[in-house]
Amino acid sequence: MSKIVAFEEAGPIGVIRLDNPPVNAINHAVRAGLADAVTLAANRPDIEVLLITSAGNLFSAGADVTEFDRPMQDPTQQMVEDRLERARVPVVAAIHGMALGGGLELAMACHYRVAERNARLGLPEITLGIIPGAGGTQRLPRLIGARAAFDMILSGAPISARDAQLLGLVDEVVEGNLPEGAFQFCRRLIEDGLGPRPTSERTVQTHGFDEAGIAEALRAQSRALKGRTTQTFLLKAIEAARLPFSEGVAVESQLAQQSLATPESQALRHVFFAERECGKVKGITQPTESREIKRVAIIGAGTMGSGIAIAFADAAREVILIDNAEAALARGRGAIQTIYASAIKRGRVTQEMADERMSRIKGSLALADAADADLVIEAVFEDMDLKKQVLSTVDSILPPERLIASNTSTLSVTELGRSTAHPDRVSGLHFFAPAQVTKLLEIVRGAGTSPEALATALKVAKLLKKIPVVAADAFGFIGNRMMLDGYFREAELLLLEGASPMQVDMALEAFGFAMGPQRVSDLSGIDVGTKARIQLFQRESRPDPYFVIADHLTELGRLGQKTGRGFYRYETGGREALPDPEVTKLIEALSAERAIRRREISDQEIVERCILALINVGAMVLDEAIAARASDIDVVWTSGYGFPRHLGGPMFYADALGLGRVAERIRHYHEKLGYYWRPAPFIERLAAERSSFTQWDHRG
Ligand code: COA
Repeated sequence: MSKIVAFEEAGPIGVIRLDNPPVNAINHAVRAGLADAVTLAANRPDIEVLLITSAGNLFSAGADVTEFDRPMQDPTQQMVEDRLERARVPVVAAIHGMALGGGLELAMACHYRVAERNARLGLPEITLGIIPGAGGTQRLPRLIGARAAFDMILSGAPISARDAQLLGLVDEVVEGNLPEGAFQFCRRLIEDGLGPRPTSERTVQTHGFDEAGIAEALRAQSRALKGRTTQTFLLKAIEAARLPFSEGVAVESQLAQQSLATPESQALRHVFFAERECGKVKGITQPTESREIKRVAIIGAGTMGSGIAIAFADAAREVILIDNAEAALARGRGAIQTIYASAIKRGRVTQEMADERMSRIKGSLALADAADADLVIEAVFEDMDLKKQVLSTVDSILPPERLIASNTSTLSVTELGRSTAHPDRVSGLHFFAPAQVTKLLEIVRGAGTSPEALATALKVAKLLKKIPVVAADAFGFIGNRMMLDGYFREAELLLLEGASPMQVDMALEAFGFAMGPQRVSDLSGIDVGTKARIQLFQRESRPDPYFVIADHLTELGRLGQKTGRGFYRYETGGREALPDPEVTKLIEALSAERAIRRREISDQEIVERCILALINVGAMVLDEAIAARASDIDVVWTSGYGFPRHLGGPMFYADALGLGRVAERIRHYHEKLGYYWRPAPFIERLAAERSSFTQWDHRG
């Protein structure tokens, strides 16, 4: 018997225990071990119940995703499940932590399921662009009904043990110790003489799984599923649950293979691994070198500061929010209360939880109160002198082993660090609004940032359940550099050449972006970019035209939604972006000043230019070693800037287009449009070698 799957007898109970760290992924060794264990148990006449449990923090995170691109070796999971279902004695799954994907499918092939109170159960395959392929689409409808199964697999979100019990997915929720509760459950089965209860033999309840119900379910997930195709495979699979089980699983198996082969699934799996890879930094091992973070001081109670305060309070840390004016502090407090009130309304937290979290955030008007924090985050206005002044004061009052971070989005962290006596402890923690929600945390490594400070910054990301990407220190780091020098810059040029803000936004939203560039600018404040550019131009230059429209809008006080006017106009209190003839006039005048001939521009050209510009600057960011991997860039754009996840991020998308074609189109625009389109030499090089960003990442 393999160590990965152990079998032992506890009186009449045969215990099969999976132990495949870190997440009990079901790979070939696990499947083979399970099959052996079931055979072993079948040969012991004294065994009256089989109990399947797991070691570690969770029951199982599902099928091993790293095996997905290889042909499945026997025994397949279906074979193992088949043997479990046909066992002569009842089989019970004891679920702790999480049962996801193949892990839950395995549990559903057992005759009974008990779960620890805090356990969560789900089929998240849709987030990887696939459908459950080991009986999940056939057994879940038999346990909870076709409609509830469709809803659950469509959302991909795990549900609580209690909800699972209410639906009929779990037979018993164990309040205390799970092994003890599971053993008791097994003993009761023996006492009551209850035998095997194969899920596959149940009939499917189809109430609500009709045209209207399906449409309603799809509507509920329409945002998450925009541009996606996996749901069509899923629908067919759930429909097949009406067939006899053996036919249904055959249909499921075929559909699962088809979904696995889609570009969408390849892209989503790429992002899955990229998100786990990006936290790994050469030479940095956690957690030995990092500090414990119990108390955090945040300086600046504006939108960012308040959001960061919530993020830490949610992670059960003590926060002191510092500002130099009572009014600013009061505004921050108000914003925090509003955010929690809305979280309560949406059922995300209870009043009690919100009260407890809010009580962790204390306000202060004195910078000196930062002195006993383990970490100080500066989140004041994006102004070099102001930030330097704050950092040097903090540095003078904070014991030298504590970490200082700046939440700058564009400024030099090296220069900020040099304004202190301890640049080694200064790093950039670039949060993205809304800071309590957005998953991305760009960590900026200044020239002086020590490995310990970087390790602590990575730990902060983990603490906040954020996805860290480490960037070297250069203007705009990874995300904003690509946005300003590539994506948004091109969007503005298209406006000068004849497209309207609405056309540009709609074309990019149809491509899959959560929100088009002009609507994003209006939402975040057009002046923010203008101020960043003023600072940029003190060090570097960019030839005209470079955000001339945005800068004129700032000058006119059209700062976006907050002033009711920006690239669009807004009705009082409204959020709907309405076209504004005044903006059209302004853009036409700016085009005329530059003798730019305005013309009809196709949506296809808009998308191609904006995305290629993004890719081209992305390649420069890689070549300049601002990002360590192409996949890090993909994570930045999918988790922080609304790039469609099912396209894998800009660099993965470039690979999918083929770098030869990408290089050719960039050269085409260079000839036509000049300066901003100089092809990144890195793309030319990879294209000449017939290579790709993915291959470059895996160069060893
Ligand atoms: N197959 C293979 N490896 C997996 C895996 C799976 N199904 N799930 C997680 N892993 C690996 C991760 O790649 C990571 O490996 P690394 O340490 O070499 O980078 C490691 O397990 C830990 O995962 P991580 O996500 O960093 O841990 P976490 O504690 O934050 O989250 C989970 C744990 C289970 C919630 C999360 O890993 C997850 O959602 N996994 C995927 C579940 C899924 O989609 N299953 C369906 C497949 S059928």
